[in-house]
Amino acid sequence: MNSDFSHFMSRRGFLVAATGFVSTTLLTTRSPRASELDERELKAAHGRASLAGPDSPWTAVWAYDGTVPGPILRVQQGRPVRITVQNGLSEDTTVHWHGIRLQNAMDGVPGLTQAPIKPGTSFVYEFTPPDAGTFWYHPHADSLVQLGRGLAGAFIVEEAEPIVVDRDLVWMLQDWRLTADRQIVPGSGSTMDAAMSGRVGNVVTLNGTVPADQRVRAGERVRLRIINASLARIMALRFEGHHPIIVAIDGQPCDPYEAEDGRLVLAPAMRIDVVVDMQGDPGKRHAVIDDYYDGLAYTLITLAYDNAPPLRAHPLDAPVGLPRNPLSEPNLGNAERQEIVLQGGMMGGGKLAGVGGMMGMATPGMNGSPAWAINGMSMTGDGHAGMAPQFTLKRGTTCHLTMRNETAWWHPMHIHGFSMSVLARNGSPVPHRQWQDTVLLAPKDTIECAFVADNPGDWMLHCHVADHQMAGLMTVFRVT
Ligand code: C2O
Ligand code: CU
Ligand code: CU
Repeated sequence: MNSDFSHFMSRRGFLVAATGFVSTTLLTTRSPRASELDERELKAAHGRASLAGPDSPWTAVWAYDGTVPGPILRVQQGRPVRITVQNGLSEDTTVHWHGIRLQNAMDGVPGLTQAPIKPGTSFVYEFTPPDAGTFWYHPHADSLVQLGRGLAGAFIVEEAEPIVVDRDLVWMLQDWRLTADRQIVPGSGSTMDAAMSGRVGNVVTLNGTVPADQRVRAGERVRLRIINASLARIMALRFEGHHPIIVAIDGQPCDPYEAEDGRLVLAPAMRIDVVVDMQGDPGKRHAVIDDYYDGLAYTLITLAYDNAPPLRAHPLDAPVGLPRNPLSEPNLGNAERQEIVLQGGMMGGGKLAGVGGMMGMATPGMNGSPAWAINGMSMTGDGHAGMAPQFTLKRGTTCHLTMRNETAWWHPMHIHGFSMSVLARNGSPVPHRQWQDTVLLAPKDTIECAFVADNPGDWMLHCHVADHQMAGLMTVFRVT
């Protein structure tokens, strides 16, 4: 091949990619790379961040690679990745690759799947992401403190053949509890936080700053990957004047749909991918509002149209449905049934339900003592050695899992190592063929899910409200 020809080829490859269409030429020039190891490094350390823009006062944070949130790691589906994590903190840490179906030893749970990474040492994570989608990474040690101080980042696994959009954006949302001089309120949890809604903060950032504008162009189609990396804040986003189409939840494609009331509900750890056609007029501004908590609505960000004429006269008519990931289809006719009952927390009148008495604790939820339980058992902290599994599944069986919330609080229940097909909520079938790794249970909700136990190991199942997890809303199951 002469150099002119290869120049032509690479130029053509670029043009093809830039227009968003993938040709076979591009695929064949790309495939040798797809098996090559993708090597990355990540360092957790103390740092400083200007959460309200470059001129605002500093907040002392803990950060990956010095930024809050950490760098967006973009990798390719099916391509092996090796990430060397250095611990520059003064305490143990680990990294958990939230939502990625990887081998147990790479799951990042201290004591359970690996020894914690000691200060000044490193750990090499190596896995091949089987699913394309929007995931994220965060520590699984001293979570309330480490996640609360900013350690989190987006982990994007790209499809081999992405859908056609003009731009692919990540909105990483974090909630902070700051003092008047903009420092993170210290403390590792209080009784009230632990036994009630968790540590909801007073400042929400988008990609690390108190949001101002998201610049958009009239007529463009944007894929927006929204990640709620908060400790406890639940969000419900409403796009004024726009119709976002939900195309994936927790990284897993669903049948595209528009949320019934137009609200995108994101509990901590949840992700939603939407496709938005920017159909506003040049120069116009439209708010994106979070109105989850009654009476506490605020503008998260404003879609600010620039003055350029529309990119196109009519919205793109390219399909928005994402290719499905290679998940094993549950065999419901031959499933093993398991039930998880969520118990505890504060009841009306400031009384703590069940758990405290059960565990013989004087001040439940205080100093790491349990405020919550799963099936009568309270596992507290972040994960440690010797956690006995709640149930054991033979590899290959379908587990039909029922989760029942007996408490008066909301809980985003998260499963490690798997994605679950969400079958029913309070007896009504859940539409759009949704798979999730984090399912939000309202008070008294019952959720039915199913997954194939195709990934051996000891896996965590816990509430992702950090205080709840630490105070007992956590369990482990085993696949042999
Ligand atoms: Cu995102 Cu067990 O965690
Ligand atoms: Cu996880
Ligand atoms: Cu919870």
